[in-house]
Amino acid sequence: MKKTAQAAIRPEKAEDIAAVFAVNQQAFKRQEEARLVDVLRAQVSPLLSLVAVVDKAVVGHILFSPVHVENARRAPQLMLGLAPMAVLPEYQRKGIGSLLVRRGLDACRAAGSGAVVVLGHPGYYPRFGFVPAVQFNLRCEYPVPDNVFMAIELMPCSLDGCQGIVKYHPAFAGV
Ligand SMILES: CC(C)(COP(=O)(O)OP(=O)(O)OC[C@H]1O[C@@H](n2cnc3c(N)ncnc32)[C@H](O)[C@@H]1OP(=O)(O)O)[C@@H](O)C(=O)NCCC(=O)NCCS
Repeated sequence: MKKTAQAAIRPEKAEDIAAVFAVNQQAFKRQEEARLVDVLRAQVSPLLSLVAVVDKAVVGHILFSPVHVENARRAPQLMLGLAPMAVLPEYQRKGIGSLLVRRGLDACRAAGSGAVVVLGHPGYYPRFGFVPAVQFNLRCEYPVPDNVFMAIELMPCSLDGCQGIVKYHPAFAGV
């Protein structure tokens, strides 16, 4: 059976910023996502940024930032995009990413978010309740296959009548 690491999930603090950069850089093996996190932190509100801590060290990170549906007649008051998320390579496949997603979605719901979208692997996110966003008539602004752009309602029927192109912060276009 897969070993589950004992990780504590908590909101990011100012003193975590360098460690969050390092986690993203090491997980993605490049700096673009780490820099994106810094840009969003400086420019975007509200932002939900959580870290996973093992033995007082930050080993994982997840970020949620606002997205909007272009020309939507009806949309949740706060819709968030999950991205990026990262776990240090040596801590992967121990359940820490799953814990970050589950606690992250709880935090989004507590912050009043009606729905979350994610552009990611279709074998990973459905286990948390994500379904292809096309089922809600939502499409990604980027040209991606339908099954990799997913959405989850955090409040019942929050995406009823909401349809259109989901737009991310412009900083995502550079990644
Ligand atoms: C994606 C990531 C955060 C998952 O963290 P984690 O702690 O390893 O996740 P968990 O242990 O909860 O789950 C691991 C499961 O996810 C699957 N998985 C994770 N990323 C995957 C991917 N890109 N493609 C396919 N499967 C993936 C693993 O195969 C594993 O599946 P299993 O449970 O059936 O064995 C981590 O792999 C990572 O940092 N990857 C590099 C950065 C990245 O691609 N981030 C996601 C895009 S924003």
